[in-house]
Amino acid sequence: MLALQDYDEAVCMDYIDLPQLLSAAGEVRLPGSKSISNRVLLLAALAEGATEIHNLLASDDTARMLEALETLGVRSESLSGGCLRVQGVGGAFPNPRAELFLGNAGTAFRSLTATLALTGGAYTLRGVPRMHERPIGDLVDALRQLGAQIEYLEKEGFPPLRLSPARIRPGGAGRNVLHNVVQIRGDVSSQFLTGLLLALPLTGVETTIAVEGELISRPYVDITLALMARFGVAVARQGWQSFTLPAGARYRTPGTFHVEGDASSASYFLALGAIAAAPAAPVRVTGVGRASIQGDVRFADALREMGAKVELGDTWMQVCAPAAGLRGIALDCNHIPDAAMTLAVVALFAQGETRLTNIASWRVKETDRIAAMQRELEKLGAQVRAERDAIAILPPKSAAHFKPAIIDTYDDHRMAMCFSLAAFGAPLRINDPACTAKTFPDYFAHFLRLVRPAPVIAIDGPTASGKGTVSTRVAQALGFHSLDSGALYRLTALAAREAGVDWADEAGVAGIAAGLDVRFQEEGIFLAGREVGDLLRTEAIAAGASRVAALPAVRAALLFRQRAFRRAPGLVGDGRDMGSVVFPDAPLKVFLTASAEVRAERRWQQLAERGEAADRAAILADLKARDERDQTRAIAPLRPEPDARHLDTDHLDIAAATGQILAWYAEIRPQRD
Ligand code: DC
Repeated sequence: MLALQDYDEAVCMDYIDLPQLLSAAGEVRLPGSKSISNRVLLLAALAEGATEIHNLLASDDTARMLEALETLGVRSESLSGGCLRVQGVGGAFPNPRAELFLGNAGTAFRSLTATLALTGGAYTLRGVPRMHERPIGDLVDALRQLGAQIEYLEKEGFPPLRLSPARIRPGGAGRNVLHNVVQIRGDVSSQFLTGLLLALPLTGVETTIAVEGELISRPYVDITLALMARFGVAVARQGWQSFTLPAGARYRTPGTFHVEGDASSASYFLALGAIAAAPAAPVRVTGVGRASIQGDVRFADALREMGAKVELGDTWMQVCAPAAGLRGIALDCNHIPDAAMTLAVVALFAQGETRLTNIASWRVKETDRIAAMQRELEKLGAQVRAERDAIAILPPKSAAHFKPAIIDTYDDHRMAMCFSLAAFGAPLRINDPACTAKTFPDYFAHFLRLVRPAPVIAIDGPTASGKGTVSTRVAQALGFHSLDSGALYRLTALAAREAGVDWADEAGVAGIAAGLDVRFQEEGIFLAGREVGDLLRTEAIAAGASRVAALPAVRAALLFRQRAFRRAPGLVGDGRDMGSVVFPDAPLKVFLTASAEVRAERRWQQLAERGEAADRAAILADLKARDERDQTRAIAPLRPEPDARHLDTDHLDIAAATGQILAWYAEIRPQRD
């Protein structure tokens, strides 16, 4: 298995590179549910008495809610075992004025808007720019029916908002003017109804909410109702069209509360199982199961429909892939809007089209998720049809049609998590992986623990050590892909020269490296459609390669291009820094050496065979000078990795050296394949 520490080099603020993955197995204990955590924090804050909350999710969204509650004067303290004790305020926040920043936390923004609008203080609520593009007008309209005073500070219908003391104070003299029926639209975001439901007990008056239009994302409303009941408020429901809060309702603490694992977060791991787990070693999640109050557990039904083998217990679920492969489905996703995103990526591995409908709410989430999903799936080679409230995905025609891609995540945690699964099709770079902090800060650590990547054999060594030839032979023997990384530097030098870019122009050459149009094929190496194998081997281009390889921006530009060669069933990569920077987690690293004298002799013989006269002493001097330069250069010096196996070929021919590497690989192979 791949350990996260192997990925120190790859995990950084900007991106994470994932090699092509072969299989998955193992168990994950899920972090607390985001939907439950933020609702419970608000309920515990509003309730009479203190609540000890266990397994609360630690993430950006919950941090925004906690900060907001603290600003409002709610006191909380961390207890041992990750438990949080919240001292309830009994319906009235101590601070009647406050400015709140709620990031991009939709649940926090909507529920606090409703709550604060009915509590009679003066507040402003802001978020990140995307939050200010997410509609809130329907909730504001509903609250205004109750006498709330709400102003839009920028654009009509959108945050930020200013709330002024409502004309109706809870329990105050204005009670008799409270309308006892309030209307709210149900077809934009169920968070509007949730916000209203959570806030209305503060008025103390019997109120009926009438939902206009079809209520979407009903399971989230179910979570709200279940949690309100735990805090002592029973809502009477007439279908999904009307909800009645009793007069005199008050929130009371249940004392302690255990947050179940997040069912939406579970979807990524269940999908891992469906795509790539063998029956004997399924992927299992614990902390959420059949007994959950979260609608997203029904994601498991969708996987089952696609053919996956699913087992559910009260507090666990496990999945493995079907022998016959997954099949595409058509599904109304109203009941699992968030987890449905995961299905869109699972669709890449199913036979036939997958069509997900009734997902209009995707358009008003962290990003326009329908548009984002289409753009990124197409990069991988899928055919995607986006509609107003639906998406249809046809996977790439075959494994060979899967394209390595750089995936953008749009500051949307779910985009980052979903697309990690696409690495079963091709190597990927996922930009801004830290955006998972919104709901699952250590997602990638868990993910990497469960997956097995395509193996790499990294071979390095001094010039003329025979590493190119040996690498090719090892790759052939194993049926692996091969990467001659030196060729990429040579191609860059050639392409730069042809474009008239000076080899010393770091930014210019890096731009060329990033945009190289190259194909490595049986018949040769093609640059922009032209075979250039012979040109690459000229002394002039070798000199240029050596120059451009010393430019850090060029090395950075070629990094993902090299990693993209790591495809099933495996890769043999040769060249400088293969085992250090490019594939630090390579299970086998080989440092191929031979004395300068032996290498000089081999080079001399090569030239002699080609009929080129050469001076042995001059070749030896030249090799020694190159060794010295290679070992002492500042950028990517020639140096064996501490965990590399040394293979001295002074007394070995190509076949024997190849045989030794294959023998080493056979030793480690049982744990890897
Ligand atoms: O192995 P080669 O001669 O084709 O390499 C061409 C140049 O690129 C040579 O100067 C070494 C350099 N190189 C590098 O810096 N890093 C690599 N991974 C491969 C080659």
